[in-house]
Amino acid sequence: MLKNKNIILGVCGSIAAYKSAILVRLLVKAGANVKVILTADAANFITPLTLATLSKNPVYTQYFEADTGVWSNHVELGLWADFMIVAPASANTLAKMATGICDNLLTAVYLSAKCPVFVAPAMDLDMWKHESTRHNISALLSYGNQVIKPDSGELASGLYGEGRMAEPEEIVSFLTGLVQSTLPLLGKKIMVTAGPTYEAIDPVRFIGNHSSGKMGFALADHFAALGAEVTLITGPTAEKSNYPLTRIDVVSAAEMLKACKANFPAAEITVMSAAVADYTPVTAAEQKIKKNTSEFSLELKKTEDILATLGQMKTDSQILVGFALETENEEAYAKAKLVKKNLDLIVLNSLNDKGAGFKKDTNKITIFNKSSEKTVFEMKSKTEVAEDICNEILKLV
Ligand code: CTP
Repeated sequence: MLKNKNIILGVCGSIAAYKSAILVRLLVKAGANVKVILTADAANFITPLTLATLSKNPVYTQYFEADTGVWSNHVELGLWADFMIVAPASANTLAKMATGICDNLLTAVYLSAKCPVFVAPAMDLDMWKHESTRHNISALLSYGNQVIKPDSGELASGLYGEGRMAEPEEIVSFLTGLVQSTLPLLGKKIMVTAGPTYEAIDPVRFIGNHSSGKMGFALADHFAALGAEVTLITGPTAEKSNYPLTRIDVVSAAEMLKACKANFPAAEITVMSAAVADYTPVTAAEQKIKKNTSEFSLELKKTEDILATLGQMKTDSQILVGFALETENEEAYAKAKLVKKNLDLIVLNSLNDKGAGFKKDTNKITIFNKSSEKTVFEMKSKTEVAEDICNEILKLV
């Protein structure tokens, strides 16, 4: 959930600042990019070196570092962040945030930030209960900030009650829960096919194609990043996914057909980007074929068109997306395939476009929908193309 997210962690002067080290560690482990801002008092509780080492980024403490002459741009930091967490948030900083006082870098970044802001207060129980703190918390909530409530327990003062900063694990799960709840494909079951298929001629030879699987893996990863439960059915490929998804490895068109038919009924969305062999040897020799003759011919039979089969199985609530790889009459062929195979969208790759096609890291696509509406995209990386395809699918969800 937090992979590649930019997070500003603001740390205030509180004994709970020791927990910030664990928080940074957990955020970095979850794949986030973390930049820490310490208030002057916080630096008395935890050293910038500890947090810089854990976050793998310089720690910010003031607008202007007199010894280095470096000026930290609070606006840039605020705009960089996908999330800002203030943990521990002291009563003093909460009051400044509630009233717009920005006399230090942390509060100036807060005022500049456009991202969701979370505060995890830490203070003595009477300070937490005080009318002015209640008032400040209400103000922060009314600005759309989120408050991760403190826990009850023994406090640094020796008193017992509410005021202990939430544990770093709770803060991370609060954040991931919130990110998760905003994902547009949360819990959606999506099936994706990728890569080539290999059709055996004998135990050592096969008929294959140049598909690398990059497009299908980029799609599967993007769907998973948006919260979908992805089943990725892939032919032989060196590609790897960075997301937790169900991967089913197949070799031949027949194996891919079997896996697709078994998984399709549960899939709410299916995207077929695999380059499936159209023909397969009528029989695969059991032993290696020897080169005894000067000529050799191979009898091939048509494979079953998996996409067309799924198009027949499709119910009204399912979305089916196919690809068309063409070298001539591109639009006409793509539109005909959309109708013939009962698809909701077809993604056209034309090998006449530079930067499109197999093995490349880029692709150039045109998408047609059932109403024959056409959307043309620029040449982009396959990751960006996956995002474009996903956005077109989201219009149908
Ligand atoms: N496809 C499939 N099963 C096959 C062949 C193709 O599921 N046996 C799917 C591909 O995954 C792709 C789409 O059909 O989504 C179009 O593939 P393409 O090779 O462009 O076209 P074909 O339908 O095979 O037609 P032709 O080769 O005649 O252009």
